[in-house]
Amino acid sequence: MGLLLWLSLLISLPHLLNSLSSTTTTVTAVATTTQAKALDAILQHYAYMALITPITGAIYNATNLPSNFTGVKVAALRLRSGSLRRRGFSMYNEFQIPKGIIEKPYVTRLVLVYHNLGDLSTRYYSLPNYTYLAPVLGLLAYDGSNLSATNLPELNVKASADPINIKFQDVKSAPDGTVAKCVWFDLQGSSNFTNVTGGNTCSTTQQGHYSIVVESTALPPAPAPAPLPPALAPSGGSPNLKPSGKGESKSNKKKVWIIVGSVLGGLALLALLSLLVLWAHKYKQKKKIQQMERAADVGEALHMASIGDTRAPAATVTRTQPTIEHEYTP
Ligand SMILES: *[C@@H]1O[C@H](CO)[C@@H](O)[C@H](O)[C@H]1NC(C)=O
Ligand SMILES: *[C@@H]1O[C@H](CO)[C@@H](O)[C@H](O)[C@H]1NC(C)=O
Ligand SMILES: *[C@@H]1O[C@H](CO)[C@@H](O)[C@H](O)[C@H]1NC(C)=O
Ligand SMILES: *[C@@H]1O[C@H](CO)[C@@H](O)[C@H](O)[C@H]1NC(C)=O
Ligand SMILES: *[C@@H]1O[C@H](CO)[C@@H](O)[C@H](O)[C@H]1NC(C)=O
Ligand SMILES: *[C@@H]1O[C@H](CO)[C@@H](O)[C@H](O)[C@H]1NC(C)=O
Repeated sequence: MGLLLWLSLLISLPHLLNSLSSTTTTVTAVATTTQAKALDAILQHYAYMALITPITGAIYNATNLPSNFTGVKVAALRLRSGSLRRRGFSMYNEFQIPKGIIEKPYVTRLVLVYHNLGDLSTRYYSLPNYTYLAPVLGLLAYDGSNLSATNLPELNVKASADPINIKFQDVKSAPDGTVAKCVWFDLQGSSNFTNVTGGNTCSTTQQGHYSIVVESTALPPAPAPAPLPPALAPSGGSPNLKPSGKGESKSNKKKVWIIVGSVLGGLALLALLSLLVLWAHKYKQKKKIQQMERAADVGEALHMASIGDTRAPAATVTRTQPTIEHEYTP
């Protein structure tokens, strides 16, 4: 019995370690925003490489993206900022840019980099409890004065008059009873939702990344990423960072709670296991004593004899002494 308990302890140990390491998974998820920022920098580099002796106002597609970016589309558009402010740019792929765009700090020429993240959308912009109905598109503005510059900071761009419209193509239809929403990720990774207009259009006054999503809680849940013991499953949570509208402080607080929960859960499990082991030990001892008692009871009948420290059944003096039969009395 004790052995069995030890075995079950050994079996549950990997689960315990697994659940403790889920803390690490949560910490990795913090990096999602960092990864998205790193992706922005990589794509800026490839977009600028497409701009060799560029014609102002022409869209250049990046053609030599690394093979692991298959399905991702990147383009660059270089404009004089005065012309952008006065005239806008009617159709930059899905983006309809109105007049009245102002950037800070002011630059003579700016480059608008376009992203279509395709299949990598969910990887860089994970949105727990939501399903993407369209790929994540991005529009980011950079200083266009040095086309060999890398790791450029984004300019601060605002639509001061009309909003920028994004007309998504091939939007998947929302399941019955659900309402599609536009999601916007700002450069800090915070998300915000707005209404879809005309079935496929989102509006924004700022740069960032955009898509159309639908709440997925009504849909069958996605398979769990890793099996967790039931006691710890809730604290494991989703491995993805939810970019909350309130910024990072809220999600940080949540992370702290997840970590605290995981640690407490682990400790509770350890205590439980210790109790089990203790109980097993006690049970074993009790059983041993019972056995000894039973043996002792039987021993009375068997005439237990003490040999040194141990008691053992011993034959008493033979009751009938063997005698030579002298029955034949003459
Ligand atoms: C650039 O890519 C877009 C799609 O992202 C496509 O519609 C357009 O034709 C491409 N332009 C050139 C010059 O290849
Ligand atoms: C593609 O590979 C580069 C370097 O090899 C890496 O920095 C980048 O994160 C990779 N991207 C994806 C989407 O795997
Ligand atoms: C997802 O939905 C479930 C159930 O409604 C909820 O408990 C959970 O907190 C949600 N997750 C996030 C990250 O919002
Ligand atoms: C442009 O950027 C590159 C790379 O950062 C740098 O080496 C170069 O000096 C810059 N050119 C100008 C004119 O600033
Ligand atoms: C968004 O749509 C909902 C429901 O259709 C509506 O109640 C709400 O007023 C809309 N919000 C805006 C900003 O248009
Ligand atoms: C999100 O959108 C709502 C409505 O448009 C707005 O009131 C709120 O300030 C926005 N939040 C952020 C973080 O931008």
